[in-house]
Amino acid sequence: MRTRVFIPALAAALLLSGAVALAETVKVGVINTYSGPLAAAGEQMDRGIKLYMKLHEKDLPPGVTIELIKRDDTGPNPEVAKRLAQELITRDKVQLLTGVIWTPNALSIAPLVTEAKVPFIIMNAGTAMITTKSPYIARVSFTLWQSSYPLGTWAAKNGMKSAYVLVSDFGPGIDSEAAFTKAYTDAGGTIAGSVRMPVATLDFAPFLQRAKDAKPDAVFCFVPAAKQALAFMKAFGDLGLGTAGIKLIGPGDLTTDEELPGMGDPAIGTITMHHYSAAGDRPANKAFVAAYKAEFGANEEPSFLVADSYDGMAAIFNVVIAQKGVIDPDKTMELLKGWKYNSARGPIMIDPETRDIVQNEYLRRVEKVGGQLRNIELETIPMVKDPWKELNKGK
Ligand code: PHB
Repeated sequence: MRTRVFIPALAAALLLSGAVALAETVKVGVINTYSGPLAAAGEQMDRGIKLYMKLHEKDLPPGVTIELIKRDDTGPNPEVAKRLAQELITRDKVQLLTGVIWTPNALSIAPLVTEAKVPFIIMNAGTAMITTKSPYIARVSFTLWQSSYPLGTWAAKNGMKSAYVLVSDFGPGIDSEAAFTKAYTDAGGTIAGSVRMPVATLDFAPFLQRAKDAKPDAVFCFVPAAKQALAFMKAFGDLGLGTAGIKLIGPGDLTTDEELPGMGDPAIGTITMHHYSAAGDRPANKAFVAAYKAEFGANEEPSFLVADSYDGMAAIFNVVIAQKGVIDPDKTMELLKGWKYNSARGPIMIDPETRDIVQNEYLRRVEKVGGQLRNIELETIPMVKDPWKELNKGK
């Protein structure tokens, strides 16, 4: 009798003292776009996740494993994303959620993670207010205000007196329009016209024709990265805006590194502001690009989506390692607040107050180097906090 009582008590005491490691599997739900017309962006995100797992699985404490449970939201479909998150939380019992390219999907998931207390690490969706929708959200990617606001100031101060604004008609497009317009007009620029385009369109010619007819100095554009950016650039070239002397500017989604080779010479001279460029010459980026090419092919270039999802996995590994695989939601959020990392994009930090990313923004110009189109970094704005939150503080 005595020993029967004694053994479990001893085992429990040893476990509590941390002397014996229990095998722990941390279940992480990944909601990403694996199919549908916008799946190319999802492929980039998936590569970042895979690369981090491959290089760093060995860093997990003995007995601790991370199980990724991947689900396909098929695109900006908030109802699908919500259902998937619900299933991952209640049926699969995930301890963490991550992924999510699209703002509408992130917003539909936010109330669920609050209710269930499941930390949600956003690897892309970039509308500024997303992080205000749940205390269990932390974002490792970017906001459109981070790029478009400083770009507005730069454009007005660098000889672009009028700009025609073209954005996709949903959260990130509306944010980039608002951010650019505010900074640009505050610095003396004039908006020649402003049009919102259907979210999933690949036919940009009618919008670009109207922009051309308005004869602005510049067209400012946000469209989602991947194939839409490629289609936009093709139409910009085909309609001859560049040859008519109109400059193209926008957040770096527009010249996303993996599509740049296919964009061709019309892309040359495009000015963007962004937090990541595959051409960046930081040592951490050189190592990252080399690892990416070794895994996915010498001619492949990692986009910001790869860098951001890779860093998202780094954040997840950090909380898993710190808690030895036993995930407490509130402890996890405390660990994420103030988390710092030497990323391929430069130093990054999760703002402890807002749970949003703080990072460098780079002013870049597309140039042909050694026969290859590249986003060449010209200037660095260090450690930019989301300007939308900064401007709305206390409001
Ligand atoms: C978003 O939905 O927030 C989003 C999508 C694609 C991008 C950037 C932001 O390239």
